Amino acid sequence: MSYRIHSFEEYQSVYKNSVENPEQFWADIAKQFHWYKPWESVLEWEFKTPSVAWFKGGKTNITYNCLDRHLKTRGDEVAILWEPNNPENDAIRLTYQQLYEEVCRTANALKSLGIGKGDRVCFYMPMVPELAIAVLACARIGAIHSIVFAGFSAQSLADRINDSACKAVICSDFNARGNKNIPVKKVVDEAIAIGCPSIEKVLVLQHTGDPVTWNAETDIWWHDIVPNQPATCEPTEMDAEDMLFILYTSGSTGKPKGVVHTVGGYMVYAGYTFENVFQYNEGDIYWCTADVGWITGHSYIIYGPLLNGATSLMFEGVPTFPDAGRFWEICEKHKVNIFYTAPTAIRALMAAGDQWTENHDLSSLRVLGSVGEPINAEAWHWYDEKIGKCRCPIVDTWWQTETGGILISPLAGLTPLKPTFATLPLPGVQPCLVDASGNEIEGNDVEGMLCMKFPWPGIIRTTYDDHQRCKQTYFATFENKYFTGDGARRDSDGYYRIIGRVDDVINVSGHRIGTAEVENAINEHPLVVESAVVGFPHEIKGQGIYAYVILDGMVPDEPTFKKELLATVTRIIGPIAKPDEIQIVSGLPKTRSGKIMRRILRKIAEGDTSSLGDTSTLLNPEVVVEIKDGAKR
Ligand code: WTA
Repeated sequence: MSYRIHSFEEYQSVYKNSVENPEQFWADIAKQFHWYKPWESVLEWEFKTPSVAWFKGGKTNITYNCLDRHLKTRGDEVAILWEPNNPENDAIRLTYQQLYEEVCRTANALKSLGIGKGDRVCFYMPMVPELAIAVLACARIGAIHSIVFAGFSAQSLADRINDSACKAVICSDFNARGNKNIPVKKVVDEAIAIGCPSIEKVLVLQHTGDPVTWNAETDIWWHDIVPNQPATCEPTEMDAEDMLFILYTSGSTGKPKGVVHTVGGYMVYAGYTFENVFQYNEGDIYWCTADVGWITGHSYIIYGPLLNGATSLMFEGVPTFPDAGRFWEICEKHKVNIFYTAPTAIRALMAAGDQWTENHDLSSLRVLGSVGEPINAEAWHWYDEKIGKCRCPIVDTWWQTETGGILISPLAGLTPLKPTFATLPLPGVQPCLVDASGNEIEGNDVEGMLCMKFPWPGIIRTTYDDHQRCKQTYFATFENKYFTGDGARRDSDGYYRIIGRVDDVINVSGHRIGTAEVENAINEHPLVVESAVVGFPHEIKGQGIYAYVILDGMVPDEPTFKKELLATVTRIIGPIAKPDEIQIVSGLPKTRSGKIMRRILRKIAEGDTSSLGDTSTLLNPEVVVEIKDGAKR
């Protein structure tokens, strides 16, 4: 694409131009995509309401840009390269032509189920080609996809379905992960039994073939309605600001919120950032190990790569099956050139031992990426030495569900690197650091809360059905700024290093979990009176979950109680929210106004009890001593 940046000097001048003439800058990029009708204005925005519109009046369809546009030039090249969970089964290669046809068939099937523009469709699926196909099928007909990571519980799934009143769910019979088959359809049945009145249809992909219970009124097999559809389907012309998808994510308060992205801006941003950050070259095999249930999978497994005509490898399984060499075996087998993963995976594989990396030929690798949480120096160097053999740039990409695409990152091979630094903002991105009173901190060698001063095309537009919450969460903390919830440092070269969340969000293995959500789940256990949850540094997961719980009376058997508590959290949220440590306490440190002093609980969970500060003003200073003595670390 001609939006490709080729050198660090070019980046610097492009960046300068993007800040001085943002509208011209983004218009020149957007022109390189296909539009049925050009936009009337490039950007209209204010961060108060907030109200942001990119390419207003323009009409496009993201799947035309991902598929149709490539058919003449690279119809026979591989779009999706699928590696199954079981390495003994064959990989599947879908060319752009084949993917186009599958997407059209599925789009026609969805239409036949009565799904159309503006309808919400929930996904609860394994990492199989049909997931990408059905996501694109929704986008083709203007239906809004809401993908739920298939590790969430039936309750979480039901909450998400109901929040956006989804008309259909697409799932599989079972998911294959490692040596386990996970009953996905059963979870969907349970969600519907909890109560999902908006659901009219459940489209079920037969994947493992294990038996499922069937509800003839709602359930339809994929193989009964997709394969016999016509292989063409006119894309629905979408307004640039029509909704493309909803993706639920955790914040500091309440239930997860539905982050909304719209067609035009998201498309331009995902496409632009994919090519430039990874310096993707035609013919490269690109592999992002994320799950499509998270934003990384949306933007950098499906949309970003396909917008650029790339080959995107999609892996069904887990990094440790059949052994801890699986990632490297796949890199060797498919001659992967660009590899993008999370620090938690790097740390887990590092802990498994270097021998797993040594018997695989990793010479095809050219670029490595990291995403989802701060990467510690040890993991960075191991990744660089053992995987990249000290010849592959590592792009530490900082971004969020709400940002749609990468905001701060090196451009692979162009930006001079510093281990553990996300380095510099991408063109069009205007970060700043702010102090607690909302003043911008100028200059270098400073630390503060990370905000954005100006919109980029991929910015969140709203939280589904609750615009007030969007305003409150992101735009009300600091006037005229988007607040990320992260703290960051800017060093003497102006490079950014992300420190981590400054709110009540815990980043567990790169997954965002709200402490309030976990507390609410714990409180559902009949013996629990009150609880407080904080994060603590965890060697593999980055952060672990530490729960302090007050019980109603004596516990008959502590191990049994703890097992039950973990089961409760798994039932309400999912296994990813299970506390790593549970401490039973008789009280929680509170201020005189009744607020839990999380700072103290965090310190104790971190094992740092030397600097608890003044606790004498607490309502109940004596519990601090008790908690300290009973602490798990
Ligand atoms: C964290 C994932 C440090 C950060 C794309 C952010 C990171 C949250 C990095 C968003 C990084 C993401 N370095 N921290 N390179 N990337 N984070 O919405 O705290 O799942 O706010 O999006 O992950 O998580 P989310």
